[in-house]
Amino acid sequence: AAIVEHTFHVGNLTVERLGQRQVITAVNGQFPGPKVEARDGDTIVVRVVNHSPYNITIHWHGVLQRLSAWADGPAMVTQCPVLPGGAASSYTYRFNVTGQEGTLWWHAHVSFLRATVYGALLIRPRPGARYPFPLPHAEHTLLLGEWWNATASLVDVERQAFLTGGQPANSVALTINGMPGVDARQMNHLRVARGNTYLLRLVNAAINYQLFFKVAGHAFTVVAVDASYTDPYHTDVIVIAPGQTVDALMHAGASPGRYYYVAAQVYQSVANATYTAIARALLRYDDDDDDDEAEKAEGAAIVLMPNMPALNDSATAQRFYGSLTGLLRDGKPTVPQRVDTRMLVTYGLAIAPCAPAQTLCNRTRGSLAASMNNVSFQLPASMSLLEAARARGSPGGVYTRDFPDRPPVMFDFTNASAANGNSSLMFTSRGTRVKALRYNETVEVVLQNTAVLGPENHPLHLHGFNFYVLAQGTGNFRKRRAARAYNLVNPQQRNTIAVPAGGWAVIRFTADNPGVWLMHCHLEAHLPFGLAMAFEVADGPTPDAILPPPPPDYPPC
Ligand code: C2O
Repeated sequence: AAIVEHTFHVGNLTVERLGQRQVITAVNGQFPGPKVEARDGDTIVVRVVNHSPYNITIHWHGVLQRLSAWADGPAMVTQCPVLPGGAASSYTYRFNVTGQEGTLWWHAHVSFLRATVYGALLIRPRPGARYPFPLPHAEHTLLLGEWWNATASLVDVERQAFLTGGQPANSVALTINGMPGVDARQMNHLRVARGNTYLLRLVNAAINYQLFFKVAGHAFTVVAVDASYTDPYHTDVIVIAPGQTVDALMHAGASPGRYYYVAAQVYQSVANATYTAIARALLRYDDDDDDDEAEKAEGAAIVLMPNMPALNDSATAQRFYGSLTGLLRDGKPTVPQRVDTRMLVTYGLAIAPCAPAQTLCNRTRGSLAASMNNVSFQLPASMSLLEAARARGSPGGVYTRDFPDRPPVMFDFTNASAANGNSSLMFTSRGTRVKALRYNETVEVVLQNTAVLGPENHPLHLHGFNFYVLAQGTGNFRKRRAARAYNLVNPQQRNTIAVPAGGWAVIRFTADNPGVWLMHCHLEAHLPFGLAMAFEVADGPTPDAILPPPPPDYPPC
């Protein structure tokens, strides 16, 4: 196994998009940031140096961080941020990537910075090992994101939103590899040769939007999601929520003499979805002409645009998510069949009392917030959860171990008026409450999206683990009916699941990684809103199950 080393200099970068110059926060002067490429079993070492005016942390989204919780990255969960300070202010993330292959990504995990601070993290099979599918001729990594016309002050935009209890400003465009692709001069080109097969590595790095992805005249075979192999699934549309990744094969077999748009568009479950932006890139065959010709071709309208689903086409989204199954590499199921701890977690937007920092909050009405089992999660202010638990040896004053296993009340989530009248789930309390787990405990969590206040699909991301998705559906979770639908043989494995508005999912994982692990909504605004909780996993009995002490340059709180 090799050591893959990088230095990430985080600082200002001036870019021009949509006819405006913006100063953004970026890594090594690149947007999107550098690609980290490793093989199964390698050690990744990234020194992050903070030249920016903001506090920085980097999260390696989907990396299991086995015995390396100190390198996970969420601010105030596993570390205090790296403060501004130039060359003197740095932290080296060191972790091993073993037992997972495919596409993951990295992003800032503090305030709104992940809007522009992100990049791909690819894990390929170890030397001599193969993909469980025919070797593609080449690959293309496509990071889907968003763009704002106020990028320099994005962090303030979010801070202002939190202070007032509002939503941060909406983006003005979607992007593919940082380019909106609304005109030919700012558009990525994907070159392919006729007859070849390409591995597309898709990442949804957007802040707020679940997306549909298509390529005109081409179909895909999905082979992995969230860096877990799936049974090959044929489709002409890919559905991808913030935080999720998809690896898909695409055969370049379309007719000559044409250009094909690659397009990403919003999917929202609400009936009145209005965000119609589409990001585009251009798929070109090598035997076609050069760039000038491509631009002329666009003018001559022989570029084919894919036929996109409606903005609120939930049937297409559910078909995609419901059709994926995990690939059994040696034919045997790996799902834990026995469950030690069962939880039912309801979550959604809510109203919470003003937080101390919310000086602009309406003291009587409270502020727009979000909660899980009626707890609106507060990140600690003075010390990270992991440091409190491990380096200082006690959670005392930083968090409590009383995250509830069940919501205070259940009701019919499919009946909107009953739900809306239920103030006990709409008015929540704030707290830093975590769920403590024994080492190797098997946990099953039913996730029920309440949609009490605003129907949104919340993509829930679990740090530190992949989980099996045993069943999912819309409406109320009903134990007996759901039990018949459990896939205990070959369920898909993920680190992020998009639970539909008013819908549910059942996930299962084994708590075999000591540390403190955040589970939260990957719509960025919902983290400060409190749509989060954390699992604290104890050390195991043997030396190979004990989290080592933090590295010497761990940023002090
Ligand atoms: Cu991709 Cu907690 O984040």
